[in-house]
Amino acid sequence: MRTYFGDARDWFMNARFGLFIHWGIYSVPGWHEQHQFRLGLSRSEYAKLGEEFNPVRFDPDTWLDLMQEAGMEYLCFTTKHIDGFCMWDTKATDYGIMNTPYKRDVLRMIADACGRRSVPLCLYYSVADMHHPNYPNAGRSYELPAPEAGDDPDEERYVDFVREQVRELCTGYGPIHGFWWDAMMFGRKDPSINTMIRELQPAAVINGRGFDEGDFATPERDWDDSVRTSARFTKPTEACQSVGEQSWGYRLNEDFYTDRHLIAGIDNALAKGGNYLLNAGPDANGVITEEYGSIIRRAGAWYTGVREAFEETTAVALGEDRDILVTRRGSTLYVHLMKTPATDAVILRPLRMKPKRAIILNSGEPADTRVELLPWHFRDGKPCLRLARLPVNEYANTVLVVRLDFDSLPEELD
Ligand code: GLC
Repeated sequence: MRTYFGDARDWFMNARFGLFIHWGIYSVPGWHEQHQFRLGLSRSEYAKLGEEFNPVRFDPDTWLDLMQEAGMEYLCFTTKHIDGFCMWDTKATDYGIMNTPYKRDVLRMIADACGRRSVPLCLYYSVADMHHPNYPNAGRSYELPAPEAGDDPDEERYVDFVREQVRELCTGYGPIHGFWWDAMMFGRKDPSINTMIRELQPAAVINGRGFDEGDFATPERDWDDSVRTSARFTKPTEACQSVGEQSWGYRLNEDFYTDRHLIAGIDNALAKGGNYLLNAGPDANGVITEEYGSIIRRAGAWYTGVREAFEETTAVALGEDRDILVTRRGSTLYVHLMKTPATDAVILRPLRMKPKRAIILNSGEPADTRVELLPWHFRDGKPCLRLARLPVNEYANTVLVVRLDFDSLPEELD
């Protein structure tokens, strides 16, 4: 068990790979979760999508089946995105799922399904809200260019509305394991809101995009260089990425990432001690289509094969190649070929002992290991450990992970 918080939030240190779901009325046009903002639609124009929202094929168990097949351990669901549309039976506004043809509390269905399987459920909630009349729209990102006629922009009243909704979410749906704030555009600091969440839901980890810095960092997509350059994370971190490049919500004709790109990102975050949230956008029927699902399944097949390389391990600096990540548990090392390898060998200088066992986790096959003097190293004349003849071409589309068991290793490797 990894611990960090020393309380019920530590579930998050041990369940490392989660499914992020962006689902709302924006799945009807199937373009982008910020449909209203990016196309500059008025509230009334955009709200028409709600009249068409009737996801009769929605069954949260199919999402959880996919998630669990992929070895994912928790779910994070968008209760309200920047459009302000609520995916639960909220009493604080009419703008939500109960006023669509579907008329069912989808969050209730999701929470019940998670409860039956003991799957930790986290809730995404956008502070930006293009619908609420008290929201202080000022033309920033994720806002209306200006208040609409009849609006009454009032930050205090808007924050009261947020509190009321957060209370509903934290009291009406059983155990909540996380609160994933997004899009705080008016820069308000108010730790009392997270305090309320902590009182109502002690296991909830809270991200740093809301009213204070919260519990964990959320580097997104490939934009945050610290994920690539840091040797390991020093505070709880959950990287997030969607299976497609353009959108988090369902997009017809999405530009999907390659398996290698996604898997390398997952490997990088997990090896450095972080979590990873991989996102899919269900379509307007409530279905995670095969295009999206198959990517998640392939990433999941990789993850389930190599996950022990992330369990209770620490990233260590070893070898000359910074594109190779190494994680360690006791006298076991895991060598991750995170970047596209240039050759079929890994040189693990300065190690110069042969492991008693070497296994390619992706296939279960033994790996060829040798301790020898390499021609490049003729000047210092020192032999080193080399993993040879790795199946790099066969596994070109994924990240190879090799497990090396030693009798003992020096305490400090970096
Ligand atoms: C970005 C997107 C937002 C999405 C979020 C998820 O901030 O703009 O729409 O919900 O990523 O991390």
